[in-house]
Amino acid sequence: MIAVINGRRCKLDVHPMKRLLDVLREDCGLTGTKEGCGEGECGACTVLVDGVAVDACLVPAAHADGCAIVTIEGAGRVRAGKALQEAFVKHGGAQCGICTPGMILAAMPVRAGASLEEIKTALAGNLCRCTGYLSIFRSVQAGLKTRPKKKRARANAR
Ligand code: FES
Ligand code: FES
Repeated sequence: MIAVINGRRCKLDVHPMKRLLDVLREDCGLTGTKEGCGEGECGACTVLVDGVAVDACLVPAAHADGCAIVTIEGAGRVRAGKALQEAFVKHGGAQCGICTPGMILAAMPVRAGASLEEIKTALAGNLCRCTGYLSIFRSVQAGLKTRPKKKRARANAR
């Protein structure tokens, strides 16, 4: 499997059916991607594959071949991800933290200026047992607001 993971080209000798979640955690040492249910129900394992939020527990390595993957370890290198991380800290969006990497990755593709309903829809596949979700939604709203103006202008122009 060859992929660009957090901006780095990686060549990995893994079985094509190995779960992307396990490839990231075991072969890449990127343990920020969490396993909750292992069945596509909780979103704890969410990563970006070519900009789309996916459950890494459901994706075989072969399907990620040739793709650009972003995990929570790389999220902070992108302005949108950094803004979300800072907002989660500031607004108490994390308690135990198990769901947090997945929440942030799921929120990264959300457009600047998104409504609360859009945010809820984007995070609908991500479960949290601790926060009651309000602080998470507040964090995402705040993170979207602090995105650089230039980027927001471009997003609005689409
Ligand atoms: S661990 Fe992948 S969705 Fe729950
Ligand atoms: S902060 Fe604990 S599951 Fe969300």
